[in-house]
Order: sequence, then structure tokens, then C-alpha cells
Amino acid sequence: MDNDFKVFAGNSNIELAKKVCDYIGIKLGDIEVGRFEDGEIKVIINENVRGKNVYVIQSTPPPSDNYLELFIILDALRRASTEAICAITPYYGYGRQDRKTRGREPISAKLMANLIVASGATRFIAVDLHAGQIQGFFDIPSDNLSAIPLFADYFISKNISDVVVVSPDVGGVARANSLASRLRAPIVIFAKRREKPDEIARMDLVGEVKGKNAIIIDDGIYTGGTLINATKILIEKGAKKVYAAATHGIFCNHSLKKLNDSPLEEIVITDTLKIKDNDNFEKLKIISVAPLIGEAIKRVQEHSSISELFK
Ligand code: R5P
Repeated sequence: MDNDFKVFAGNSNIELAKKVCDYIGIKLGDIEVGRFEDGEIKVIINENVRGKNVYVIQSTPPPSDNYLELFIILDALRRASTEAICAITPYYGYGRQDRKTRGREPISAKLMANLIVASGATRFIAVDLHAGQIQGFFDIPSDNLSAIPLFADYFISKNISDVVVVSPDVGGVARANSLASRLRAPIVIFAKRREKPDEIARMDLVGEVKGKNAIIIDDGIYTGGTLINATKILIEKGAKKVYAAATHGIFCNHSLKKLNDSPLEEIVITDTLKIKDNDNFEKLKIISVAPLIGEAIKRVQEHSSISELFK
């Protein structure tokens, strides 16, 4: 591997960035990402990066300061004569606003891609983008890593019988198929209708779950409404146990507590985002994506295949 590279991180998930560096066997780059007295973001890179390949790890959930930190770090690195800059957003914020659903709406996922590139990124890596097509918003090399193989390994290790994989909406069918083929299980699908953002008008199940152990797979958990509704319907339709797996635990409106108190057996997520007080939720299981991201960085440095990571 070409060792002439460094990894830096913003404040959104330093623990994950440290784990990535431990996996690679390097130290996290020395950078200060603080605030001026008036609250504006202050970035200082405390080591020489001239001519180096650099990687910046920063998830971008709300507050939008997480995005601003990323932009400002990228700008500082570009102005410090780096050779190439890879922006890594384990969680890509604003990813759900990836198209206009009615007139006079923004496509914020495209705007964020434009701003990442305008700030200096020459490569982009994310984990389980809300929609794979978001890669096309970047006119630089981009990779959408997947946590599905990690979930598959986890559920295989639990040795659950009679599994059915559940897609909570039509948009998630490819994700559900990917998990189902690894678990050699069938899939069922919910047709979900929202009339307002963050509110579910109705969910209809297509497929048979009686006597099965259901695993709902999703990209993210926000209000938890999707999982709560889906779990209720799956149990009504005769599912034995219901598990949930989702890459990103955003958990707004105390949804983690609601899910922990729900009939779900287990809520399996990754560490793309920092979860506060996670010890208080006995049903929560967190799988690290650090080896996945670390391996992607190593492979970019070695000019070897990243698609191997999807197997
Ligand atoms: C929808 O398109 C997503 O894949 C998730 O199913 C959804 O965003 C989850 O949101 P919530 O937890 O608010 O139901």
C-alpha cells in the first residue's frame, strides 16, 4: 500500500474515524475543528499534507454544521497543496431529498454533492446512500459501500430459522433482495404511502409471513414510524419474531426509546452515526463499519478493486 496518505475527521463521529485508523494501522491526522468566539467554524491542520492523498471522515446528520465542517476542512486541505482529497460521509445527510416530488422543491442531495466537490473533494465514498443514484450527482469517482454483508454475517451467526426478509417500502426492494440472497430467504414487501413527510398514511403487506421470523431491512431509522407500523402488521399477520436492521440510526423524536419498548426483538444498526447513551437500550445492537471504510481506503491507496467489498 502507498503509505503517503493521511486520514482526518470532523467532529461528527471521531470515534468511528479512530476505529478506521486503528483498522488501517495509522494515527488519525492532527486537525483542530473548533469555533471562533462568534460561533463560526475554525479549522487548523496541524501537520504537513503537501503532495499527500488525504481522506476526510465526516458523517453529515443535522445540525447542518456537520456539513459546514466538512466543506471547510476540504477547503483547508485543498489550499494546503494536497495531491487528492477523498470525502467520506459514512452517513450522507439530505440524501432523502434526491428528487422533486412536487413543484418548487429543492434537490438538496444534489446541492450537497455540488458543494462537496466545489469545496475540493476529488473522490467520494459513502455507506448505504438513501438511493444508489445519488452517486451520479458526483462527477468525480464515487463509491457507495454497503453494510448489507455485515448484517448478513450477523444474522447468519444468530442461526435464525424460517427467515423472511422484509422491505419496508418499494424503494428498498434491491436492499432486501441483497440481504435475502445472502440469507437464502424469501422477501416480502410493504407498499408504503406517505401524504406528508415523516408521516405514514398507510402500509400494505405483499407476501406471506405466517410462522416466519421477519427481518426488516432499511437504510435509516428516523421517526421510527416505518418500523413500528411494519412490526405491528407483521405480528398481526402471524410473524413469530420481528428484527430490524438499518445502516443509519438517526433516531429523531426519541424513536430509539419507542423502538426499544416495541415488540421488536432487536434493532441492529451500524456506527455511521454516534448514538448517545446506547447502553440504555438493551435491544440495540451496533455493528461497526470501520473495517469496511478502512478496507476501502486501503484499496484506493493500492489501486485495487473496491467492488470486492460488496461480495
Ligand atoms: C424511506 O424511504 C426510508 O428508506 C426509510 O424507510 C424511512 O425514511 C424511515 O423513516 P422513519 O423512521 O421516519 O419512518
